[in-house]
Amino acid sequence: MTPSTAAPTVPGLDFTLDPELTDRLRAEIVTLWTDVSNAGGSVGFVPPVTEQRVLPTAVQQFAHVGGPADPDADRLLIARAGGELVGVLFFESMRFDLMDHWRLLKRVMVCPTMQGRGYGAALLAEAERIARSWGLAGLRLTVRGGMGLERFYGRCGYQEVGRVPGAIRVGPGDERDDITFWLELREG
Ligand SMILES: CC(C)(COP(=O)(O)OP(=O)(O)OC[C@H]1O[C@@H](n2cnc3c(N)ncnc32)[C@H](O)[C@@H]1OP(=O)(O)O)[C@@H](O)C(=O)NCCC(=O)NCCS
Repeated sequence: MTPSTAAPTVPGLDFTLDPELTDRLRAEIVTLWTDVSNAGGSVGFVPPVTEQRVLPTAVQQFAHVGGPADPDADRLLIARAGGELVGVLFFESMRFDLMDHWRLLKRVMVCPTMQGRGYGAALLAEAERIARSWGLAGLRLTVRGGMGLERFYGRCGYQEVGRVPGAIRVGPGDERDDITFWLELREG
């Protein structure tokens, strides 16, 4: 477990990389994931969802989480404010040698009641700092179109590098683009 310091613009936000994935933390993440989904967040579900519905997907996500000793592991970054879990993301490994120089960010989410306070930007800044410390060439993520998220990721330095039209069907007749973003970490 590696505690680290928040971006200076957001006092009181504490990040932990590789927290011990206890039953309590798993339950906190499932609750956060459910709340974010029910608030309309694009983290794999369409509202309404229950924790029971989110749980199997969360269990799959947790299954690959490990620490620095396992180079193929996914890594978990959490943010707490006043002890409360307020933000989460996973660094996902492709588990493929030819793609080991970058990671996919998954399930980037901030507690709905805490959104708009700069936590999301601070979480991404911390992810970038960690990725640079690992020597990664870049961070990739995918975004559901039609949510206005492009502006948020653009402001965090990510560039749109691809778009599959209508690849995400959120409901009958409601298909959204699957947009790929990339944060370049190589110099020059
Ligand atoms: C995206 C998310 C992580 C941003 O976290 P946050 O703490 O709200 O972000 P910040 O406070 O740092 O930045 C807020 C800015 O992003 C914008 N923003 C955030 N989410 C947005 C959304 N879904 N649509 C439009 N704008 C959004 C806000 O309008 C705000 O911009 P402004 O400062 O110009 O008003 C958070 O909104 C979230 O968890 N969303 C639901 C889950 C989700 O969709 N995740 C993305 C998966 S790819």
